[in-house]
Amino acid sequence: MYKAAIIGAGFISTRRHLPAWRRLRRSVRVVALCDRNRAQAEAVSRQFGVPAAYDDLQQMLETERPDFVDICTPPATHADIAVTALQADRHVLIEKPMAMNAAECERIIQAERESKGRVTVAHTELFHQSVIEARQRIRRGDLGRFTGMRIFYSTPVTLMTADPGHFANRLPGGTIGETSPHVVYLSGAFIGPIRGVWSRGQKILPEYPWSPFEDYRLELMGDCAASSAALTYTSKHSAFLLELWGTEGILKIDMQSKVLVNYNRVSQSPRGIGLSAFKEATQIAAGAFTNGVGYLAGRFRNIHDRLIGEFFERSVNGREPAVTSEAGRETVLVMNRIGKQLQSQAKRVDALASVKQ
Ligand SMILES: NC(=O)c1ccc[n+]([C@@H]2O[C@H](COP(=O)([O-])OP(=O)(O)OC[C@H]3O[C@@H](n4cnc5c(N)ncnc54)[C@H](O)[C@@H]3O)[C@@H](O)[C@H]2O)c1
Repeated sequence: MYKAAIIGAGFISTRRHLPAWRRLRRSVRVVALCDRNRAQAEAVSRQFGVPAAYDDLQQMLETERPDFVDICTPPATHADIAVTALQADRHVLIEKPMAMNAAECERIIQAERESKGRVTVAHTELFHQSVIEARQRIRRGDLGRFTGMRIFYSTPVTLMTADPGHFANRLPGGTIGETSPHVVYLSGAFIGPIRGVWSRGQKILPEYPWSPFEDYRLELMGDCAASSAALTYTSKHSAFLLELWGTEGILKIDMQSKVLVNYNRVSQSPRGIGLSAFKEATQIAAGAFTNGVGYLAGRFRNIHDRLIGEFFERSVNGREPAVTSEAGRETVLVMNRIGKQLQSQAKRVDALASVKQ
């Protein structure tokens, strides 16, 4: 029986990682939870039946000797924890983003070179069934030549923006630092290495003075296609929509309901448009029904279930990680460019405001 330890007993750890590890209980057991808040580690350990709780990473590693260390703490802590776990020769899973900047990523990559452990970065949306299918269809040429994409991402305002203590409000550029890794690596999966970055933020909600912006626009340029993204933190609704287009077709994915629609509207006539709208509605209904039945029948595996399953299987079999530390670094480098642009925009806005006063 293999042993896993989870670092961080907060939101993502309790909602996704602990349940995902539980699915692998025939082969691996979560033996310890470690959180700098010991009371939190103990409470979550009791809730999930984890035998030991710690607030000291080194002590946990020496006592429990886990095969896998799963890092679910805020981004600014990832590098130190990952390096310590790699120095103890453990396989490491790091929640996105891999780290805060290039120097921290380099420290992790260097420690990985000197370790028997390997690093996997939790670029979870790449494990989304519809994303896997869309990538296959594009590779097969179903869309003709792939020519571009668009992402719409709405995070409920109550989740991070309204909470002055949430770490995301202190990330470079604000809350976008928490969501944008998904936008960056997903875009990269379709448009290839990201060369150009353009980002802008807009301050919409004055009632949250600690948040620099609540509405963001990103343009990411690959070699032969671009990705545009709108990220909003102003609504009480959540949404994550992806559109991919090529010379011969368009795909639309609702990342939350997990429905993929093959959009087809070559005719501009009222009959053609009506028929295409009807086909789209049919695909949405069929997709929602199939996914709903799968969920009720207990066959549903979410993206963290797939990620952690792959992390475990690939580590045990000595295979290349599904998302390598180099891929994690690529995303961090793009995020740093976004963060810098937004920080300098925020400074210009502040300077302008002080001149006006
Ligand atoms: N893949 C996804 O869809 C997804 C979704 C949400 C969050 N995340 C990522 O997961 C990570 C954690 O986010 P969260 O929302 O769960 O945060 P959280 O604040 O809810 O939980 C973090 C926990 O880590 C603990 N902690 C902080 N520093 C620590 C340290 N040095 N050692 C041990 N414990 C420490 C805190 O006490 C807290 O209990 C972040 O990197 C975030 O970006 C990923």
